[in-house]
Amino acid sequence: MAVNFNSFVFAGLGLVCVGTIYCIALITHRLVFSPLAGFPGPKFAAATGWVEFYYDFFKRGAYIYEIEKMHKKYGPIVRINPEELSLHDPAFYDEIYCVASKRRTDNYSHIGKGIDFDGSHFLTTAHDHHRLRRKPLEPYFSRGGVMRLEPILHEAVQKLEKRFTEKKGKCAVVRLDHAFTAFTGDVIGTVCCEEREQFLDDPEFAPYWYKLLHTVIKSIPLFMGLPWLINIVSLLPESIVVWIDPRSKKFIDYKNMTNRHIEIAKDRKFHSIKIGSRPSLLTYLVNSELPSSELTVERLSKEAQVLLGAGTVSTARTLDFICYYVLANEDIHCKLRDELADIMTNYPAQIPSFVQLERLLSVYLRLGR
Ligand code: HEM
Repeated sequence: MAVNFNSFVFAGLGLVCVGTIYCIALITHRLVFSPLAGFPGPKFAAATGWVEFYYDFFKRGAYIYEIEKMHKKYGPIVRINPEELSLHDPAFYDEIYCVASKRRTDNYSHIGKGIDFDGSHFLTTAHDHHRLRRKPLEPYFSRGGVMRLEPILHEAVQKLEKRFTEKKGKCAVVRLDHAFTAFTGDVIGTVCCEEREQFLDDPEFAPYWYKLLHTVIKSIPLFMGLPWLINIVSLLPESIVVWIDPRSKKFIDYKNMTNRHIEIAKDRKFHSIKIGSRPSLLTYLVNSELPSSELTVERLSKEAQVLLGAGTVSTARTLDFICYYVLANEDIHCKLRDELADIMTNYPAQIPSFVQLERLLSVYLRLGR
């Protein structure tokens, strides 16, 4: 018994020693031998990713404000974690974001690690592989492609306006963030999917859609901070995962929803793939010339999750901010009404087009008003 106990203690001590030596070696490498070692920044943040994890997970995405403070203290280039530098110098923009003919750049492999969207074009590391996966999406996001999608946008805007007008004079409280998330969700949903519910038809602007996406987004720092977590979670049965953390049900719902869209797109055959005849983006993708290894339900479902999420949340948040600042600043509000007055004269019979709005914007930017 004594021998067994002693061996147990020795094994434990051995593990602690190996662990300690490993940590010392890792930190020494990061602070002394890493190619980033010479860049300024707090040593603790350079030695471990825990600083970033603390601010992004426990302080809900606040690392960006810490980085801002670091720039004030250390200058335009700061090391913010063991693997990354932050650059705060607009003059350097074209150096970093350059065209492939100047420099082919692989995506940064750490970004998005652990959030289980691997396989989407967004998280594809190798430059050429990223291009291959993104190519079939491009007709939808080129200038011409976006203009062809304008009728979808007009329809959704009018529906949103009708919903707001219905509430007029009723002292109803409207959650604008829910309303805009329903609106942008309907737009990108109609662009991407063949059959889907319309969030703008929901009497409360589909708060479940807002909650689903925001639960997923708020969990991102946890999964990026502990990238091995996803491997454990994916080994467990869904019922156990939901029992441990009920919020994970939202991830499962999201995955099931996008899987369903891909299955529908795969089932459908379409004869004309001209965008004018409007196949959904996912149908177009499923029928694209990508090799079959790229067309698995699993990969396409991740692609769909990224597109639906990014297309909904970024645009809805932008509308939240615009709406707040326009309403909170009387002078901006008045100026905007004046500027739009001419092209809105015949609304709703004539809805201002993207080109008209763009022209108006460039005139005002040129005049610097
Ligand atoms: C106001 C709205 C939007 C903002 C502010 C925004 C912002 C951004 C930014 C900053 C990036 C670059 C991320 C990086 O550093 O790699 C990005 C990439 C991306 N965005 Fe958006 N976005 C918006 C709307 C949309 C919409 C409507 C979609 C719909 C599909 C979308 C889908 C994507 C995708 C898929 C990527 C990755 C592109 C790639 O890797 O090739 N975004 N977005």
